[in-house]
Amino acid sequence: MSVPFYDLKQVNARYAGALKAAAARVIDSGWYVLGEEVAAFEREFAAYCGARHAIGVGNGLDALALIFRAYRELGVLKDGDEVLVPANTFIATFLAVSQSGLVPVPVEPDAASFNLDPVRAEAAVGPRTRAIVAVHLYGQLADVPALAAVAQRHGLLLIEDAAQAHGAEWDGRRAGTLGDAAAFSFFPTKNLGALGDGGAVTTGDDSLARQIAALRNYGSETKYQHRFQGVNSRLDELQAALLRVKLAFLDEAIARRRDVARRYREGIRHPAIGMPGVPREDGHVWHLFVVRSARRDALQRYLQACGIHTQIHYPVPAHRQAAYPALHDLSLPLTERLHAEVLSLPLSPALGETEIEQVIAACQAFGEDA
Ligand SMILES: Cc1ncc(COP(=O)(O)O)c(C=O)c1O
Repeated sequence: MSVPFYDLKQVNARYAGALKAAAARVIDSGWYVLGEEVAAFEREFAAYCGARHAIGVGNGLDALALIFRAYRELGVLKDGDEVLVPANTFIATFLAVSQSGLVPVPVEPDAASFNLDPVRAEAAVGPRTRAIVAVHLYGQLADVPALAAVAQRHGLLLIEDAAQAHGAEWDGRRAGTLGDAAAFSFFPTKNLGALGDGGAVTTGDDSLARQIAALRNYGSETKYQHRFQGVNSRLDELQAALLRVKLAFLDEAIARRRDVARRYREGIRHPAIGMPGVPREDGHVWHLFVVRSARRDALQRYLQACGIHTQIHYPVPAHRQAAYPALHDLSLPLTERLHAEVLSLPLSPALGETEIEQVIAACQAFGEDA
């Protein structure tokens, strides 16, 4: 039997009836952009996070970029300002910064959690640093209190890239409320996934929220009146209606993910396979289950031969991408090693008992000669 990495069809089958009813409601409404479904989802998602505002946008990259654009419009950020970003993150974190006329400054992670290291972040603060992006990588919260302390000491914004971490908590406070503003992605495979692209910004800041709501809609608050040079990046009614269905089951899906992760952590004990470090259990919603191995490529080939599909998040660090020639000379040895060693095992709320056991048994039997 083969184990898929993430079977989206199976994941969404659980909600199929409600999703089809929600889609029919939108189709029949005759209103497809910025209507009642988006407004209701924004209220419900803000309430879920415990945030004052949620603004639905086109995708997670735009959510993050619009935060920076809004701070520019508000005069808080300006061309050439530097933003500290974790060196090991999905490229979107870098793109959001550089697209906004700002300069991403990569910082090495903490080796156990894979997240931004607050000590290294503080050491990287320079005269042009204005913000820190805390990416909650793989669904695990970065050390937000320590990063907030760094931000406060140096007068920096703290922005959460919570694209992978819907529902993760720190002392009862959820991702999306831990900094000045947060960006979420609803890409279909995310813990809260639409059936297409989608994203949201959460913030407690009224003027920032208002600015982003205008910027996502051609910079307009009143039809055909354009205060800013905005973009078209709106969560559409259909995706909002589908997300409302899935939001009601998000905690249940997270519990299921935690269950799978617990089984892997208990069952996989192998000298060549390093388990993920988890400083806080409630701070991890297990978007991905990422192990490390010095023999990563052999492990991936071996698991593939056992019928187990894995992925690499991510094979090439941002500072080695063709898109960022200016960063090619940087030496970030920890990040580079992580990218050569990480491997994501199958993890989804729909993973069955037999599949979990198959993954554990295969990992346990990974031999020297594989
Ligand atoms: C850490 C991180 N930031 C930003 C994004 C961008 O989200 P989207 O794919 O919705 O643009 C993603 C996901 O793809 C991500 O994983």
